[in-house]
Order: sequence, then C-alpha cells, then structure tokens
Amino acid sequence: MEITGLINEVREQVKEWRRQGLTVGLVPTMGYLHEGHKSLIDRAVTENDKVVVSDFVNPIQFGANEDLATYPRDIEADKRLCEQAGADLIFHPEAEEMYAPDFSTYVEMQKVSEGLCGKTRPTHFRGVCTVVCKLFHIVMPDKAYFGQKDAQQLAVIRRMVRDLDMDIEIVGCPIIREEDGLAKSSRNTYLSEEERKAALVLSKAVFHGEDRMKKGERDADTVLTAMKELIETEPLAKIDYVEMVNADSMEPLAKAEGRVLVAMAVYIGTTRLIDNFIMEV
Ligand code: PAF
Repeated sequence: MEITGLINEVREQVKEWRRQGLTVGLVPTMGYLHEGHKSLIDRAVTENDKVVVSDFVNPIQFGANEDLATYPRDIEADKRLCEQAGADLIFHPEAEEMYAPDFSTYVEMQKVSEGLCGKTRPTHFRGVCTVVCKLFHIVMPDKAYFGQKDAQQLAVIRRMVRDLDMDIEIVGCPIIREEDGLAKSSRNTYLSEEERKAALVLSKAVFHGEDRMKKGERDADTVLTAMKELIETEPLAKIDYVEMVNADSMEPLAKAEGRVLVAMAVYIGTTRLIDNFIMEV
C-alpha cells in the first residue's frame, strides 16, 4: 500500500491503473478510522480492483466554533487499518495541497442541504460538496463509498452527483454500531466515561422509533415525540433536532410514506452526535 499527499501522484497512479483496465473505488474519510470506515473499505475492496482511501480533515466543512483544531488524528493507526483492509493507496494531503491561498470556488446546494444538520451547520455541506467534488476529480473513481450514519451527507452527495452529471456510482453502507448500540464515530472519543453511557440514549431512541414504526405507527409527531421524550430522560443530553423527512429530498414529513429517514442530532455535553434509521413504508 502506498501513501501520498500529492494530487499529481494520485493522478499518475490512477492513470496507470486505468491503462491496465482496472476499476477504482474511493472511500473519502477524515481519518481516525474505525470499524465504520473499515466496513466501507471492505466493501470497496470486494467491488473494485483498486481502492483509494482519502484521509483529510477538511477545514472548509467546519464552522468557526466547531472542532477543527481538536478533531482526532492518527495517521499511523489509519495506515495500519487501511493496509489490513486491503486498500491500495491513501491520499493524505495537507490543507495547502487542496486549497490554494486564493481558493474561491465552492459547490453550493439548496434544499437537500438546508434542513437537519444544515440548520445548525449552515456552511457544512458546502464544504463537504466542495471537497468531495475535488476528490472525485482527483481520483476519478468508478464508485465511491459513504456511511448511512451521515444520512443527509449521503443524500447531498447523491444529489450533487446527479445534478452535476458526475459519472460515479455512490454506494451507501449501513451504520456500524458498538456492541451496546452507539453508532461508531470518530467524535465518540470526545466523550467522558459518564457521557459515553449517556450517549446510548441516541441509539435507544432510534431503536424505539424504529420499533414504533415497525408496529405500524405512521404519524411523524407521535414517533418523534416518543423519541424526544426518551432522549429527555437523559440529563446530559440536549436535542438539536429529531425529524422525519423523505430520505432522498430531506423534505419534512407529517406522515411516514415512501423512503423515510428519521434522523437526530443530540449534544451529549459539548459533543454533538448524530444517528438515524431509514425505513421503506
Ligand atoms: O464523512 C466524512 O468523513 C466527511 O464529511 C467527508 C465525506 C470525508 C468529506 O470531508
């Protein structure tokens, strides 16, 4: 497995693979890789001849008061995980390699990126779309892999690919959870022991909402109120949002119908965690 921080080296390597007629998969990440990322790489390895993992904490998707400076990083551990999973190349650029000092071009999306996380993080998806668009141009993959934990991000990227005619298949992969239910996230490392226990309230609410819907409940208010009441039993939890939306358009639903996303963001102490479930009804 190779690692490079240079765009040109990635391009040369991918060109060489293309000359050999090989297919290429891309797993975009911000590093500090865990089992969730590994599941994306595993899937990419089974579906492509060559796999590139990008490992880049993208500054432009963080708001001014967010955790860019403290976001966890461990490139040596990331290398080991990628090597073991069978990736072929890690792209680990410095911010200067990705963004010229006078960088001024962004991919901006309306609607799909505006609700849910977009309300609290108004510039987040502009940063995500811009960096993912750049990564797609650098690697030119056949397929790219994203986790369903970031369900809105996945919908936003699918919409960008459709709207901008990018010839890339977007593969969404299931949420990977700890044994006790907590969705895997690099940000879980911010949690104290007490907060780690409190954070279980997210997955409990997800399972509760899912259960209510499996039993036939279709009224959004009823499902969401039940989930919120459960979250509010946890003193360390503060709800950012719990919403039911169409899983593709992110438009709010009063009644569950079609492909439904029930998504939440909850602060546990100062750490903002997200979780969700998708159901076809
Ligand atoms: O999901 C992430 O880790 C990031 O948002 C992504 C897609 C790698 C873009 O920086």
